[in-house]
This record gives sequence, C-alpha cells and structure tokens, in this order.
Amino acid sequence: MSQKAYVTTPIYYVNDVPHIGHAYTTIIADTMARYYRLRGYETFFLTGTDEHGQKIEEAAKMRNKTPQAYADEISGKFRTLWDAFDISYDKFIRTTDNDHKIGVQKAFQVMFDKGDIYKGEYEGHYCVSCETFFTDTQLVDEDKCPDCGKATRLVKEESYFFKLSKYQEELLNWYHMDEKCVLPKGKKNEVISFVKQGLRDLSITRTSFDWGVKLPTSMNDEKHVMYVWLDALLNYITALGYGQEEENMAFWPATIHLVGKDILRFHAIYWPAFLLSLGLPLPKHVAAHGWWTRNGEKMSKSKGNVVNPKEVADAYGLENFRYFMLREVPFGQDGDFSQKALIDRINSDLGNEFGNLLNRIIGMSGKYSNFVINSCDVAKFHANELKTVDAILAGVENNLLELQTNRYLEDLWKALSIANQSITLHEPWVKMKEGKEDEAMAVVALVSNILARVTLLLHPVMPKTTTTIAHAMHFEISTDSFETLVVGKNMLPTFTIEKVPPLFPRIEEELLAQPETQAPIVMETKPKKESKKEESIITIDQFFETSLKIGTILDASIVEGSDRLLQLKVDVGEADPRQIVAGIREYYTPEELISTQVCVVANLKPATIKGLLSQGMLLAAKDKEGLCLVRPERPRKSGASIG
Ligand code: ME8
Ligand code: MG
Repeated sequence: MSQKAYVTTPIYYVNDVPHIGHAYTTIIADTMARYYRLRGYETFFLTGTDEHGQKIEEAAKMRNKTPQAYADEISGKFRTLWDAFDISYDKFIRTTDNDHKIGVQKAFQVMFDKGDIYKGEYEGHYCVSCETFFTDTQLVDEDKCPDCGKATRLVKEESYFFKLSKYQEELLNWYHMDEKCVLPKGKKNEVISFVKQGLRDLSITRTSFDWGVKLPTSMNDEKHVMYVWLDALLNYITALGYGQEEENMAFWPATIHLVGKDILRFHAIYWPAFLLSLGLPLPKHVAAHGWWTRNGEKMSKSKGNVVNPKEVADAYGLENFRYFMLREVPFGQDGDFSQKALIDRINSDLGNEFGNLLNRIIGMSGKYSNFVINSCDVAKFHANELKTVDAILAGVENNLLELQTNRYLEDLWKALSIANQSITLHEPWVKMKEGKEDEAMAVVALVSNILARVTLLLHPVMPKTTTTIAHAMHFEISTDSFETLVVGKNMLPTFTIEKVPPLFPRIEEELLAQPETQAPIVMETKPKKESKKEESIITIDQFFETSLKIGTILDASIVEGSDRLLQLKVDVGEADPRQIVAGIREYYTPEELISTQVCVVANLKPATIKGLLSQGMLLAAKDKEGLCLVRPERPRKSGASIG
C-alpha cells in the first residue's frame, strides 16, 4: 500500500471575500499536496468554508439575507477562485453540509461520554470578530480584543465546558516529544509558553444566538448551539467521514494543517486537546505562516488596500504569482506585497535565470547538433559540476517538508546558477570553433540535465510552466521520472528539444493601479506645531540610519482636489524615478521645479496620499515667511549621498 498524505487549509469564514492572505495559505497547501502526489503518496487535500457563528449571523442580517443564503454566496466565491487558480483540492467542505453536522454531534457525544464535557455558566468577554473568549486580564484598553483590537462584548450565559485543563500536561508532552509538531520553531515556543501559563476549561456552546450546530438530541438541550471553533476544527475529520461512513479516515492523522499565525493557538492547543479526548492520533505538523501587508500596512476593507489575488494573477500570471509568494518571504515571517518586488522576481529569477536557460539550450543545440541532445559525455567532462548540483539538490526536500518554501526555491536557483555559470565558463561556442564538438555538446547536455531536475522539483510550485518545459525536453512529469532523474540522478536519454515561445516575457512597469487609501502619513500633510522642546542628542550611527540623497526633479504636476500637494517624479539614481507627493504647492509652481535638484529622505516608509504612492520626502526649511526647499550648492549626480 502506498503511503498517505493529508494536507489541509483553514476553512475560511464567509464574512469576507477571498484576498491575497487566503490565496497564500491555499497556494502553499496546494504546493505541498502536489509535491506529495508527485512523490507517489496517496494524497487528500482539503479546503472549504466556515459558515456558522455569531459573526456570520450578524453579517447576513446586515445584508438582509438569511445566513444560509449569505453563506452560499460567499462560499461560492471561494470555490470559484480556487477553481480559477487550479487548486487541486480533493474535497471542498462547508460546515453547513449535513454530513459535517452529524460528525460534529457524534464527536460532542464521544467527548461527553468520556467525561470531558460539563455544564456551567460562562461569564466573560467575547470578541465576535475573532469568535474568541477573553478574560479581564487579557483585554487591552479595558474592553478591546487583544488580537484584533475591536471592542468585545460582556457575556453571561449557561454553557457547556470542555475540560481543556485536563490535557495541559499531555499537550506539553507532545510538544516536547515531537520536535516538528508545530512549525516554525519560534512559533512553537510561543505556544509552549502560552500553555505553561495554565489552560482554563473552554466554553464550547452558546445560547444567545441560533446559527450553529445543535447539540446531539440525546443531550436534550435545545437552546445551545456549538461554539463555532469546535464545529470548525472538527471539519478536518468530518471531511474524512468521521462519525459516519469513515470512508477516508485512513488519511488521519493529518500530515500538515497549514494555518496563518492568527489561528495557531486554536490548531496547536484546542484541536490536539479535542483529538486526545476523542482518542485519535495528533497531526504530524501544524504549520503557521506570517502575515501579508501592503506597503507596510495591515490590509483591511476600511482602508481600501486589500490586494485582490485574482487581479494580480490575471495581470502577472498565476504561476509567476505562486512563485513570488513562495519565494519572497521566509515561512513564518510577515511579508509585504509590492508590485515592484513581484516584477523583480519575474524578470530576474524567472526570466533571466530560469526561462533564459531553456532558450540558451535551444539556441546552442540548434546551432551545434540540430537540436539533438545527448548526455553520454556529461560525466566525463563535468563530474565536478554534477557533484555540486547533487549536493545542493540532496538537501532540498527537507526544506520543503518543513514548509521553508523560500529556501527550497533558493536552492533550486543555486542549481540553475551552476548551469548558467558553466555555459559562461566553458564557452561551448569556442569549443565548436576549436573542433571539440563533443565537449561543446557535453556542456549543453549538462545544462539540460540540471534544468530537467529543477523542472521536476519545481513542478508543485509551477505546474503548467514545468509541464511545458518537460514536453519540450521529452520527459514526463511523473513519480517515475522523479525517481529516475532526481533521486536516481540518471541522465536524460538522447532527445530532440522542441522550441518554446518565451515563458516569462519581461515586464517593464507596474500593471495594477495603486490602491486608494485615506491614510496620509507625510510630514507635509500634518503641519508640525512649532515646538521649543529640547533637542535630544543622537549618535552618528543614528543619524546615518536616514538615507539622504540628492534628487533631480524630472516632472511635477498638481494633485487634483488638493491645493497643497504637488506630485513629483524624482530621479535619485535608481533604475526608476521615485514618485513623491509633497505639500509645497503654496510655495512653488510645477514649472519652476522641473530640472532642479533637491534633498530627498530616501529610506522613508512609503505612504499613500490622496490615493498616490509617495516614496520619499523632500527636505525643506520653514519659518514665518514661508517654506523653501533645501538644495545642493552646486549640481551633483542624482543619487549622490548626503552626510
Ligand atoms: O480564521 N496574510 O477564517 P478566516 C496571510 N474560519 N494570511 C492571511 C491573511 C493575511 N493578511 N488574512 C487571512 C478563520 N489569512 C477560521 C478558520 S479553521 C478550522 C477555521 C489567512 O477567514 C490565514 O491562513 O479569518 C489565516 O489563518 C486565515 O486566512 C484566516 O481566515
Ligand atoms: Mg480572520
């Protein structure tokens, strides 16, 4: 029997449409599921939507819809997006599915029969947005949720409790014995210290609203519905048939529960405690990734800066977007979405280093050997390069299994760079002129073999692109070829390479408009009060933290709807000019600024002013008479550093 893998995403709440954060989680999970399939594991990949609870009930009410109609609508949006993104899920679960509800009731019964559930009264604070209970001491600013900052509500109601405290030691033991049960390590330590502070029993039913799974009829307690997190976490087993046919329970325990750091506590503490109560094995990995921000700010609907993943994928290419997300941030850390970074990855990593390698192989083999590539002399001439590449690729699987997607991709690119370097170093065109045809062709074959291995390893990240390359090079993307070419390090059999149109056309400029936000954060928009406070002393190092540069104003124009702002294009010696929005319209006309030089604070966090991105600040001096720009005494090169 083949080995099994079970990969899950969180089930997303239906109070919000999918955004880049949801796409990130789902794309990592999809990559893992594809990797396991490629390696021959029988794989089950689960995603879905979380549809019960007070938050959804209230969101539906606000829109004058029934919770079910509202859930149907938004759940459909998630499903449509994942289908458009070619997400290879095996099941899309909805917590309003009848099977799921039956499984949840069954689990409640099992936990009750075990003596882990008792009736009591809950008194405390509840955050509807996070669907989480908090004690007095956990709140911030008296009544605010410590996680999302919104006001909590005081609730006092009859409730059933789960004996979470009973499992404290067993949980600590699990973290201790199973080194990789929670990833990454830093996050695991946070979980351990939370548990060590002591666990309180958990309220697992509510009576003040209806939109949830009812208790099993044997409990004879109509007014309670299950706490949405108990209902939601159980999806990971009800999806496999728990409590009913159990047709897929052989996939349990989960190989990876992939989650964002916001919900790690639920997955690394409550969920394993429920499983212990149910007598089921614990998941192999609970892995928590970091947070995506935009231009350094938290994304939110009210700020209007939410990144729509469909727009990004449509503009830049789905697979390029996948590569970017997995490559750009170390797993577990927060990442900032910027089009500039995305474009850089596409043009440089994908275009120059990956796509171009294929073009070079096609070009050289076309000239030297009528597109025929024969690997028979590779070992003879390139044993060293092969050894280096083998050593790099030997370590990559571990990184991926620990979700270090950035390191995984970094290593694949190290192998590509050995390929690119060996062309430069061995100059096959010179070898051809010298009549050493076999040596020239050995270089082309070496590079082809490296590309083939990287292509197989990259397949889970970029399924379509890698399939195109594999076709061109006449090998299959399959478990067998992975075994032969990557694990067994066999050389490709002789083949005739096909021409392929460029895979990663160069992108010259940002393809999406910047978001409109209402958060002006530049000095000029908030005139500072003249303050007479004593100046504090800073060190020279502190001063040099500010990057000051000479800039040349290439263009200036007024900002519609503002009588203070000018929009400038300023050359600070970088590939592209910066856009800077400055509050100087009362003192300068656009015409008199063009072609003059200014001093720019170049490492200021970008801000959005009146919907325009501002990437720096100009130095100016102000007194009662007005304002003037600070300028170099004599012209300097754009980008010259000041200090
Ligand atoms: O928490 N950056 O659902 P949810 C990165 N229903 N990831 C982000 C993100 C961001 N800015 N925003 C959201 C719930 N995510 C529960 C889960 S599971 C049994 C129940 C991702 O709709 C990330 O994976 O609030 C996060 O954990 C998840 O969306 C939360 O989705
Ligand atoms: Mg959330």
